[in-house]
Order: sequence, then C-alpha cells, then structure tokens
Amino acid sequence: MQTGITREQAVALLRKYNEQPFHLQHALTVEGVMRWYAVQLGYGDDADEWGLAGLLHDIDFELYPEQHCIKAPELLQEINASNELIHAVCSHGYALTVDIAPEHEMEKVLYASDELTGLIGANALMLPSKSVQDLQLKSLKKKFKDKKFAAGCSRDVITRGADMLGWELEKLMQDTISAMQFCDESVRAELAEWTAEA
Ligand SMILES: [Fe+2]
Repeated sequence: MQTGITREQAVALLRKYNEQPFHLQHALTVEGVMRWYAVQLGYGDDADEWGLAGLLHDIDFELYPEQHCIKAPELLQEINASNELIHAVCSHGYALTVDIAPEHEMEKVLYASDELTGLIGANALMLPSKSVQDLQLKSLKKKFKDKKFAAGCSRDVITRGADMLGWELEKLMQDTISAMQFCDESVRAELAEWTAEA
C-alpha cells in the first residue's frame, strides 16, 4: 500500500493534534506492533506503511473524541495522506463510529490489536517489574475475562478482530504480547525524546 507521506510528516501531524503522553505512547506502541505483524505475516516490504497506519490511527481522538474516525480524513488530508491510509485509519472505528469495515489484512490486524495493546499495557503495569517483558499469556487471559479490569478496552472489539482474522483469541493475545515486547524499548526512547522537547 502507498501512504503518500513520510514518517516525519506523520510524526509532525500526530504531535500537532496530540499532546498527552498516554496518547503519544499508544500511537508509538501501535506503530511498533503493526510493524512487527507486517514482518510476521509476510508483508515485510510494507512494514513502514503498516507502521504509519498504526502511528496515525487515533489522530483525531484527543481533540475530537466525539468524532473519532470521522474527523480523521480531514486531518490526514492536511499532509496529503493516500486514500488507502485514510481508509485504514477510519476502518478501526468499524461498528463503533463509522461503517467502514476493515478489508485488507493490515486493517484487520489494526482493528484486532489496537484495544488489546491497551489491555496488555495496563496488565504489564500490575506486574512487580511493570514491564511487558515479564507478562505471561496466562495473566492476560485472566485480565481479559475480568471485565472490570481496564474496562475501557473493549473485549467485543478484540474478539471481533480475532474473528475477522480467523485467529484464535489466544494467538492474537500471544502475538500482540510478543509484538509489544519487541517494540517496548524503542517506544520508550522516542517518547522520552518527544517529552524532553515539549
Ligand atoms: Fe487506538
């Protein structure tokens, strides 16, 4: 897929519309997770593009939460993002705020892993080390069932995402833990840079 933009443009746009460290960290995490999945699923040549979809997926959420995935096209058009990228971003709001279904495998992975990264991040913070490196699948499965834990992370969306991909929920969980373990350090490093600049 073509995004029509560079990572520098994507980062500038992300930081123009997002200030909260939590949102910036989430954007960087989903970027890293998407890159990991691209390689795993045989789309290594498109890892940059998958990553940019992850980086920008919540571009409108901080300032326009009521128009999530509806305001996004306008913001993305500011940097002339491709229609493919805009479709990918908007499709993660499928059945929530928009009627744009994930079609490409990349879009399904974004849909399935986005909310799950939030759950995994919250679960990791409960560990003595507070590190995702020590997170076990068993623990995540328990937290997934405990609907009060990180209640904002929609279990329905995660389950629907796994179904779209034709994956067992357990596979989605284990792979997304692995993806977050893979990118954790680089996410922290870049976030620290941005925070220092701000
Ligand atoms: Fe998200």
